[in-house]
Amino acid sequence: MHGSDPRNVWDPAWRQAVLIADSNTDRLFGARVAAQLAERAKVLRMTIPAGESGKSREQKGRVEDAMIAAGIDRSACVVALGGGVVLDLAGFVAATYMRGIAHINIATTLLAQVDAAIGGKTAINTPAGKNLIGAFHQPRAVLLDGEALASLGDHELRNGLAEAIKHAVLFDRTLFETIEAWAASRVSLRPAREVVARCVAIKADVVARDERDGGVRHVLNHGHTVAHAIELATEHAVPHGQAVAMGMIVESRLAMQAGSYPAEDLARLGALLDALGLPTAAACSFDDALPFFARDKKTEDAAIRCALPARIGHIAPEPDGSWLRTVDIAALRRAWCAA
Ligand code: GLY
Repeated sequence: MHGSDPRNVWDPAWRQAVLIADSNTDRLFGARVAAQLAERAKVLRMTIPAGESGKSREQKGRVEDAMIAAGIDRSACVVALGGGVVLDLAGFVAATYMRGIAHINIATTLLAQVDAAIGGKTAINTPAGKNLIGAFHQPRAVLLDGEALASLGDHELRNGLAEAIKHAVLFDRTLFETIEAWAASRVSLRPAREVVARCVAIKADVVARDERDGGVRHVLNHGHTVAHAIELATEHAVPHGQAVAMGMIVESRLAMQAGSYPAEDLARLGALLDALGLPTAAACSFDDALPFFARDKKTEDAAIRCALPARIGHIAPEPDGSWLRTVDIAALRRAWCAA
């Protein structure tokens, strides 16, 4: 990790910098980062609206048109400054501008630091759904802004904590225990640097094993089959981290009811989420969510598929070698309604 200063990772071949922030991150950090970049390159500073609406075709086109008008060429590096929305849009701009230019991510939210900034998934939304258009385009560097975490409210921090717990549930029981101990004695919802660093290492390792999302990377969707259906059914009234918390509980309970997950681990997961103010019961009925499973990218031939760990800290491939289990709708309903 290089702190959050892009000068530390700047390639002298990059003669231009396109700094892309949203209205919040530009106000908080834009001037500082632009000044740092100006010591290395000519800077074009762009802002997109904060929130999911920033990740649109219109915004991508607006940014690209401004880049063309400013004479940005292949010697440029896009510098994405923000959370998942900014990183996704800016990364996708970099992926397609003049058939692909360099980009670096400066992640300012906990969610982006433990998940979205790492792994090269870039995308925009369309009216038909989230992340439907995008590309894999690996950032040249990922910078984690520790100070930015201090600017986040509890709501934002909880979003990231849900993903951090997911990494622990999938791969690292010790990390889970560390988060448990911290949750019991915490003074804020801001996790220690070591927790963030461990999550980054876990995610980076998974991506290194399966960059194009054809195998083991699917496990990062633990909790997300249910979470995406809840988010769609509630028109995103439930924030992503809360939906992931609900999803991990429902999916782990499904595995427990199938005899492939220990009941005590489900209880521990519920207790940890509870201690951090994350929900453990689905926010809508199963029947309200059911139509939305069909829109999940993991659904194939109408089969609902989930990534199900064997216990806290360990996930193994299914008997057919895949990392997703096809689940029965009746079993999912039972797990959903058992709260
Ligand atoms: N957030 C899931 C992935 O990067 O694959």
